[in-house]
Amino acid sequence: MSKVLHDPAQDWDPKAYVSNAAFVAELGEPLLDLLAPKSGERILDLGCGDGRLTAKLAGRGPAVVAVDASPDLIAAARQFGLDAHVMNGHDLAFKAEFDAVMSNAALHWMKDPDAVLKGIFRALKPGGRFVAEMGGQGNVARIVAAVGRALLRRGHPADSGNPWYFPSVDQYRAKLEEQGFTVKEITLFPRPTRLPGDVGGWLDTFAAPFLSVLSPAERKAARDEAVAELQPVMTDPSGVWWADYVRLRFVAVKL
Ligand code: BEZ
Repeated sequence: MSKVLHDPAQDWDPKAYVSNAAFVAELGEPLLDLLAPKSGERILDLGCGDGRLTAKLAGRGPAVVAVDASPDLIAAARQFGLDAHVMNGHDLAFKAEFDAVMSNAALHWMKDPDAVLKGIFRALKPGGRFVAEMGGQGNVARIVAAVGRALLRRGHPADSGNPWYFPSVDQYRAKLEEQGFTVKEITLFPRPTRLPGDVGGWLDTFAAPFLSVLSPAERKAARDEAVAELQPVMTDPSGVWWADYVRLRFVAVKL
């Protein structure tokens, strides 16, 4: 996997995000149950996106601070009245001030997990918990392979623009423990995810950095090829598109 750091701040369109990614917050709700937030707690939401899940978290009673690298998404999150700030997850600026850190569907955009976990550990109070869900090993593997093939056909290594980090249980447990966390639970499970449209909308919303190694003219052709290739393997008999999401979910504690 490339060690190049993708800039998670780039090119997020909150309107497209609502149309193509509303399920991110909806399907993230079980994480709130796992987090079990309480009134009186102060919780950081790392990679809050457009703030939909953060607003639900705040509705359960704790004081919430939300951060995301994208100014556009932070502007959208502030519309929910959230205390939201532009901040890169590789460079968190907090020290021993949170009872918990939550993160949903964001950590896989951060390709230097050691820097991210160091900042989370520092941000937590002693006893604080880190509860998160991210793409894990094998996540959206069909999509990654189809985009990779489109890149290869144009003379680029299949992984050259891959902006995602999808670790296994063992890899991420080791990363957490290296930074000092005690891992209470960590699981990897498939979560086939119904898309609101075809995979073209998904690619437009999420995969622009992956295709950005191509010229603008090549990008459109590569995207359309990937959609055509994926249609037989990602649609059910009624024509609904399903993505092969695999989640890595964990609870870790700073003892
Ligand atoms: C995910 O939530 O697993 C995901 C979202 C966008 C791009 C890649 C993965």
